Amino acid sequence: MTDTTTVIDRYALVGHPVSHSHSPTIHRLFARQTAQQMTYELIDATAEEFEVAVRGFKAAGGKGLNITVPHKERALRIASDATPAAEQAGAANTLDFAGGSIIAHNTDGIGLIRDLTVNLGIELAGKDILILGAGGAVRGILGPLYAAKIGRLIVANRTLSRASQLQQEMAEHAVFDVCGFDELDEIPPTDIVINATSAGVKGEAAPFAKSIFTAETFCYDLSYSVKDTPFVLLARASGAGDSAQGWGMLVEQAAESFAIWRGVRPDTAPILQKLQR
Ligand code: ATR
Repeated sequence: MTDTTTVIDRYALVGHPVSHSHSPTIHRLFARQTAQQMTYELIDATAEEFEVAVRGFKAAGGKGLNITVPHKERALRIASDATPAAEQAGAANTLDFAGGSIIAHNTDGIGLIRDLTVNLGIELAGKDILILGAGGAVRGILGPLYAAKIGRLIVANRTLSRASQLQQEMAEHAVFDVCGFDELDEIPPTDIVINATSAGVKGEAAPFAKSIFTAETFCYDLSYSVKDTPFVLLARASGAGDSAQGWGMLVEQAAESFAIWRGVRPDTAPILQKLQR
């Protein structure tokens, strides 16, 4: 007798909070497009619950996890092995259980690069870039930006010491200048400005000098929102040439995770179009 049972592989996102995540929608659309038999759940776990939640999901037959705030560093620590991208970022957004162990990946950086270069058509080679912020999100994008052979890179942060610390820690992978927000009006305009602060998400005003936005500047916000984000509104009002928020990065990092788990990379264009509608 042939076994006609269909095996449905389980995946999930672990974070705290996670209820507003778009990842289940994105992965369901990917699965439908590529005819993959899988489910994608949301798991809300505090720091104390995190490791038990991951190991429990794996023990119950789960195939892999996405990891979001505030657990990305924690996810790398519990993995038995990690890719260079995850090691460099010091954080993991994807765990793969395929070989029986926990392998940590980080697809955030490649997600940003793909959105900038493929979806938005921006050539990165030789471009001068200003990054606003020096937190965990910046750690994940520095290596991939450098690999794209960008020009000068400046990392500006509200707390200058945090940017200086990042500069030291990343010295092996990326060489960049640092400054505080109070020095932003002294730096020459760059081709691209990337907002990696969480100011907008927290509803706080970020004091960025108007001089960083010129008609030639492309502004990218790692955050995303149904409406324009505060940073995109600020960039536009300050005369920036063009701007985009992070929907594309969200979809592209998801597509990279999906490809790691399923061995097939979905076509992101129709999914991105659907989400932004
Ligand atoms: P993430 O993982 O999103 O990077 P994080 O590590 O907490 O989160 O970093 C948040 C970043 O947003 C930091 O660069 C932080 O600046 P500080 O290092 O000075 O705290 C920045 N940030 C948060 N709120 C801000 C605000 N109101 N104005 C400017 N920068 C802010």
